Amino acid sequence: MSETVRSRATRSSNVATYQDTYRSSLTDPEGFWLGAAGVIDWERAPARALDGERAPLYRWFPDGRLNTCHNALDRHVEAGHGDRTALIHDSAYTGEQRSYTYAELRDLVARFAGVLREQGVGAGDRVVIYLPMVPEAAVAMLACARLGAVHSVVFGGFAPRELAARVDDARPKVLVTASCGIEPGRVVAYRPMVDEALRLAGHRPDRVIVLQREQLRADPVDGDLDWDEAMAAAEPAPCVPVDATDPLYILYTSGTTGRPKGVVRDNGGHAVALAWSMANVYDIGAGDVWWTASDVGWVVGHSYIVYAPLLVGATTVLYEGKPVGTPDAGAFWRVIAQHGVKALFTAPTALRAIKKVDPQGELLAGHDLSGFRTLFLAGERLDPETYHWSADILGVPVIDHWWQTETGWAVAANLRGLDPMPVKPGSPTVPVPGYDVRILDEQGAEVPPGTEGAICIRLPLPPGTLPTLWGDDDRYVSSYLSRFEGHYLTGDGGYRDEDGYLYVMGRIDDVINVAGHRLSTGSMEAVLAAHPAVAECAVIGVADSLKGQVPRGLVVLKAGAAYDPDELRAELVAAVRSEIGPVAAFKEVDVVAGLPKTRSGKILRKSMRSLAEGRDEPVPSTIEDPAVLDALREVLRPGAGEGPARPGPQD
Ligand code: COA
Ligand code: AMP
Repeated sequence: MSETVRSRATRSSNVATYQDTYRSSLTDPEGFWLGAAGVIDWERAPARALDGERAPLYRWFPDGRLNTCHNALDRHVEAGHGDRTALIHDSAYTGEQRSYTYAELRDLVARFAGVLREQGVGAGDRVVIYLPMVPEAAVAMLACARLGAVHSVVFGGFAPRELAARVDDARPKVLVTASCGIEPGRVVAYRPMVDEALRLAGHRPDRVIVLQREQLRADPVDGDLDWDEAMAAAEPAPCVPVDATDPLYILYTSGTTGRPKGVVRDNGGHAVALAWSMANVYDIGAGDVWWTASDVGWVVGHSYIVYAPLLVGATTVLYEGKPVGTPDAGAFWRVIAQHGVKALFTAPTALRAIKKVDPQGELLAGHDLSGFRTLFLAGERLDPETYHWSADILGVPVIDHWWQTETGWAVAANLRGLDPMPVKPGSPTVPVPGYDVRILDEQGAEVPPGTEGAICIRLPLPPGTLPTLWGDDDRYVSSYLSRFEGHYLTGDGGYRDEDGYLYVMGRIDDVINVAGHRLSTGSMEAVLAAHPAVAECAVIGVADSLKGQVPRGLVVLKAGAAYDPDELRAELVAAVRSEIGPVAAFKEVDVVAGLPKTRSGKILRKSMRSLAEGRDEPVPSTIEDPAVLDALREVLRPGAGEGPARPGPQD
């Protein structure tokens, strides 16, 4: 079958409507997903789609065998498309630009798979990847997939302690890193962070492989392997077929506690779902140029920088840079024009950053965006103002869609390849086929349209979503499947309107979303609580015009703790930065005399959030002294500066 035919075949027929497709995905999931699986090359094609024998733990395509790397690279080369561009790397920091054809990328990946194999990595072994936005990040991920090994990519903005926690949970055989990453105005040395992480971790990988970058070379450490030298000596390794249900990767994400959750992705369901999404959600197929401006360290980067575009034979752009300041707020328009990008996927915060610097969109001038068709946004709520601004200056459909690390692909979207629908600002549109979305009240009953509740998905989740958490089925069940029987709890709250459009209003747990990055307030609280002067603390997410939300800390001092508040604040900010990482963007913390709590001792974060967002609601708390409550209100009042004298330590 030709590439084009293949990718068209993933589309649920040209005449299918959303309603028909959605209905058939839920009434006949077996037929629906076996049909969608037809576009994947299987070593053994699945005869069954869903395995519910261990419900509520479901698996997809239990008897299928395949290799994800073969589907992303080799099969396109074998079909005669080896000369087509697979990946364009564009670094705004270094000025480097390089294109790789499918044949070139396949050869690099096969060679790096040979390097890993030489280190004893085989099917099922874990490899931790701590790399910046360089093409080698995609090469390393795909090389793991080629061997049937399981990668776990850690975002470069996380501190050594976070890396150590992931190393200890995944227990990798090999860790792949670079000498440095680059952020605006500074080069970030990675090797010392890896050293520190390995000092903190109980588990030690057998080998560290280091990619040397010219901006800052790392001092060689005994036993390390140099990427270039290893590649020069390596024999290419072939694809190793694995069971569809075998893990492809683990991606750690923030939960409500400090311990990250290892979201597992399988091979078969993932390949089928992502290929389906490219055609039906994004309207992207073979030969199209697709750009996801995110980072390979996030799920958006896994799914839509690396796997999905390559699975359908498209060209993916891997961009190292920020939307503003590298060199200016026209950087995104330059990339779209220069590489002929058909669709861009990024987070709303990136558009807000551009809008702040270039509100009239003047920097669009001089860039030919005639081939640009659609802007897709996800990762955080798309506020109507950013929606209107983006749609006005770009003149293309701006499509919000909603999903999360756990689901791996869109839960709600406006399906541009299947049945485009009118956009309603503020809504990511409708549930995607495969997702039986329900809005439930506290008792687990469905609420009528217009009423807010917990957004849940009736089990089973479709292919491509998490089958479990790494090594912890119990935690998967208790975190996601126990609150409402037969349902997956997304952690988001929202409602549906009379037309069935979904509105996602925000998290109903203690997870916050900062510049499209998901963070746990619980892990920040753990850092604050460890300070010797702190008796108790809370971290809440407060609205921010650029980043959507930013964390805000409140600490109560131990009786008798003599601390200069400014010094203490600086120490706490530095502690969160060094323990969690700069990505936490934790810059504000206040000393208060008391925190509002329920009678059972639960801190009322929601009440504090309301105060911080300017809603002067009553705080039903155990704080009895009105002066303490007034002082808290004053600290949280939007725009409050240093204000009047702050209350001292708790007594
Ligand atoms: N390595 C090291 N440090 C990193 C890093 C990395 N990979 N990524 C971010 N950081 C640092 C930043 O340098 C910054 O440090 P600072 O406090 O010293 O300035 C801090 O972490 C916060 O980073 P960020 O939240 O990215 O803020 P920013 O001001 O640098 O940029 C945006 C703001 C909005 C431009 C940027 O976050 C962005 O482009 N986001 C949208 C796209 C996206 O990636 N979304 C993810 C899911 S789709
Ligand atoms: P992550 O797991 O990092 O992708 O973050 C997932 C969370 O980001 C979701 O649970 C939501 O809270 C939020 N989110 C992602 N996309 C959207 C969207 N389009 N609208 C509203 N919130 C979103």
